[in-house]
Amino acid sequence: MSTHTFTLNGEKVTVDVEDDVRLLWVLRDVLGVTGPKYGCGINVCKACTSHVNGKAFNPCATPIGTLEEGDEITTIEGLADGDTLHPMQQAWVDNDVAQCGYCQPGQIMAAVALVRRAEAEGFSIDDEALDEIRNICRCGTYNRIREAIKAGADNM
Ligand code: FES
Ligand code: FES
Repeated sequence: MSTHTFTLNGEKVTVDVEDDVRLLWVLRDVLGVTGPKYGCGINVCKACTSHVNGKAFNPCATPIGTLEEGDEITTIEGLADGDTLHPMQQAWVDNDVAQCGYCQPGQIMAAVALVRRAEAEGFSIDDEALDEIRNICRCGTYNRIREAIKAGADNM
């Protein structure tokens, strides 16, 4: 076992696990943070999408030993501002996006990261930009996801 310290949703956490354990298991099984979902475990479905230092990543494919102490991990649990939903979450509610809901935390986290990157790099959230989101939704909510991202982006 080895000790790993990082920031999770604004709070410092320390866990004692082997370096090669992937972060998704640490989040879900050790820390009880279940927003990031397990789908494929091999960086394909994107159900586990969360943020590391503000950028989208997939914790199922990230060994905890690769994290540094200053790294900030944000999951869907850390997106809202207290009781106030993040604009992207509010857009999801307004557009009634979710069906079974399983893929949706990852979809929202991917959307927020894309909008932030668009702002930083100066591109707009058009259909071409939205094509970059590869998160799989088995319920087929893609059209509503796209509408929600455009609406959420306007309020971010
Ligand atoms: S569970 Fe992480 S990408 Fe599929
Ligand atoms: S809402 Fe069911 S998998 Fe996306």
